[in-house]
Amino acid sequence: VAVALVHHPVRNRQGEVVTTSVTNLDVHDFARICRTYGAAPFYLATPIEAQRDMVRSIVSRWEAGPDHPRREALAGIAVVASLPDAVADLAARVGARPDVIVTGANLRDGVSTFAAVRASLADGSRHAALVVFGTGWGLAREVTDAADARLEAIDAGTGFNHLPVRAALAIVLDRLLGPGLY
Ligand SMILES: C[S@@+](CC[C@H](N)C(=O)[O-])C[C@H]1O[C@@H](n2cnc3c(N)ncnc32)[C@H](O)[C@@H]1O
Repeated sequence: VAVALVHHPVRNRQGEVVTTSVTNLDVHDFARICRTYGAAPFYLATPIEAQRDMVRSIVSRWEAGPDHPRREALAGIAVVASLPDAVADLAARVGARPDVIVTGANLRDGVSTFAAVRASLADGSRHAALVVFGTGWGLAREVTDAADARLEAIDAGTGFNHLPVRAALAIVLDRLLGPGLY
């Protein structure tokens, strides 16, 4: 199981398709959460070359720095220009096209449950999976429509479920790959 954090194409508040800036906190927290659950690589996808260079320089600074759990976590990052590039890279690593599984706070129709996706990962019926997270106001429709599976939204039934993307990642990976307390 690999993870992608997408900065384009995503929506803004008005629903327009935009490119967001990379957030430093996302880089570190995604890397640590992915390492914790054994999800790899963590693809950080941005079309902005200067931002890809910035992330690579953060990673290389830690590579050269003192031993620290953060260094081990950051080693799992793969910086790419786009989601299709992440899919192609993962396909080359595992020898088959991965299933693209998208997430979103508003996904309701035609969704796969956490239980079903967890079972499909455990029984080997998916060769590989790329679980995709959005930035801004979420993944553009063209991404969610083209996905192999749309994961049901995390919803605690309070009428509000717009989680920070880092929290959503932790909850999703724990439900899909964690020890399973439910
Ligand atoms: C739209 S971004 C929000 C970005 C914002 N700047 C931040 O970091 O909080 C949130 C992303 O987190 C994930 N997410 C948020 N709430 C979710 C929920 N209830 N269920 C599933 N995924 C969710 C989705 O990947 C979504 O695209």
